[in-house]
Amino acid sequence: MEEKEKSARLQDLKKRMQNDTALPLRNSATQLVFGEGSPDTKIFFLGEGPGYWEDQKGRPFVGNAGALLNQLLYSIKLPRQDVFITNVICFRPPENRDPLPEEIEAFRPYIDEMIDIMKPKLIVTLGRFSMAKFVPGAKITAVHGKSFVVDWKGRKITVVPMFHPAAALRSGEVLRMIKEDFMLLPDILKKENQVQAEQMNLSI
Ligand code: URA
Repeated sequence: MEEKEKSARLQDLKKRMQNDTALPLRNSATQLVFGEGSPDTKIFFLGEGPGYWEDQKGRPFVGNAGALLNQLLYSIKLPRQDVFITNVICFRPPENRDPLPEEIEAFRPYIDEMIDIMKPKLIVTLGRFSMAKFVPGAKITAVHGKSFVVDWKGRKITVVPMFHPAAALRSGEVLRMIKEDFMLLPDILKKENQVQAEQMNLSI
């Protein structure tokens, strides 16, 4: 799919979400926080849900946790505009409470469609709610920084669970671990690119 076509499909998806009156949390939120980044990306970051600043600005990860995410991306020379960033729920929950299972479920078809459109090679989950989408039952303290190859509708996607940046802002130990985990991403990406190049050679 061409980048232009992906972009048009994402715009259409965003409109459908904005118009979906059955989506929970819309009445208490200021606006939909759809997600942002390159439609043609190979790397998809999935967080938890919008907080105060995201709700105000309509963009994901633009508050304190977002500032840390930007630093982490900078530390591995991965420009933020080259990845895609969204959340398992796209309206801010009141008082930033945890998303409820039924809220995550209501947004799930839309998040799945984003993944279907972009076809990322690598999904980095930030926090336990997005981790549970791909690695159910896992404990983040045990699996953070590990690579899981997930079968996504017949396609392989590498999923790397990470701590949530907001947790890293509360604990020096978590900050140390998330920094280390980010340092693993360039090698994981290199491997993904090699596999892709080999597959392209095979198909020539
Ligand atoms: N925390 C999240 O999980 N997502 C955001 O967009 C901001 C903070």
